[in-house]
Amino acid sequence: MRVLVTGGAGFIGSHIVDLLIESGHEVIVIDNLSTGKKEFIHKNATLYLLDINSPQLEEVFAKETPEYVIHQAAQVDITKSIQDPTADADTNILATIRLLKCCQKFNVRKIIYASSCAVYGETNDCSIHENFIVQPLSFYGVSKYTPELYIQLNHKFYGTPYTILRYANVYGPRQTPKGEGGVIAIFMQKALQGEQPIIFGDGEQTRDFVYVKDVASANLSALTNGTNEIINIGLNKKTSINKLHALISSMFLDSALPIYLPRRNGDIQYSRLNNEKALQKLDWKPSYELLEGLRETKLFYENDCSKGGNS
Ligand SMILES: NC(=O)c1ccc[n+]([C@@H]2O[C@H](COP(=O)([O-])OP(=O)(O)OC[C@H]3O[C@@H](n4cnc5c(N)ncnc54)[C@H](O)[C@@H]3O)[C@@H](O)[C@H]2O)c1
Repeated sequence: MRVLVTGGAGFIGSHIVDLLIESGHEVIVIDNLSTGKKEFIHKNATLYLLDINSPQLEEVFAKETPEYVIHQAAQVDITKSIQDPTADADTNILATIRLLKCCQKFNVRKIIYASSCAVYGETNDCSIHENFIVQPLSFYGVSKYTPELYIQLNHKFYGTPYTILRYANVYGPRQTPKGEGGVIAIFMQKALQGEQPIIFGDGEQTRDFVYVKDVASANLSALTNGTNEIINIGLNKKTSINKLHALISSMFLDSALPIYLPRRNGDIQYSRLNNEKALQKLDWKPSYELLEGLRETKLFYENDCSKGGNS
């Protein structure tokens, strides 16, 4: 199948592109390389170096006529979304509306949208189902949620099928320490450099960490499953930031104690995504437990560090 991946040079998008190509699909990438890297893109993918907000988006659709669109491109920095909500909304909301227009015009068979656990906001310490109330704590959470509504109404008015995947905290090779959920990338890099990592709050906040290859396989599965559904992608397991730090420290010979700073605006206390729906509707299950994923991630950062990189 011919699949267009927006943000295919990014952390998650590039793993999706790899898996699609390994699975025999033809892949077109649109990316402006604002946070993505050209070297992450599989050599068999066709790259359009383009902002998804640009008028040329339609020309790419006309030329490539993708059958499926996997939409990963986004402004992913929560702090930036609070400092500059207009820029955040331009990329995350307006560009998605433009993309939907193209999907409709060029009869795309499905759009698969990367949403986020950030849409849920503050919850109790529980397993979060898809039907939980959404109450984002940041503009980023709002700008990831709003396109969900557009995608669903677009389906109602114009018929474009969709699958909305709400990712938990994704981690793995190629992650930059800046984006959403970059805590593992930060801890790994600090450990390698022998520097003290910063923990915001008391470190007892929990996250559900899902390995990037499992997220890529969920996207692959969504090409043919889970149509017109909103589906959580996570392990349904919680790990506190203190526990995470201890796990990562134990993987390195010398690692420094963390510095604790006050909790940041927009940070949630608990996050654990119920994944029963993904197991049923996507015929998907995560293959990586946290420790296994951390080991693969560590190899990547060691290799990157030895090349003098700063991914
Ligand atoms: N990383 C996580 O833990 C996580 C969790 C939940 C949801 N998500 C979502 O997953 C998606 C991918 O996130 P990521 O962590 O890989 O981030 P990333 O920053 O590595 O990837 C985003 C990609 O989109 C590109 N991009 C950004 N703005 C663009 C624009 N206007 N036009 C074209 N390309 C543009 C960037 O260059 C980059 O390659 C995002 O939609 C994000 O909201 C990520």
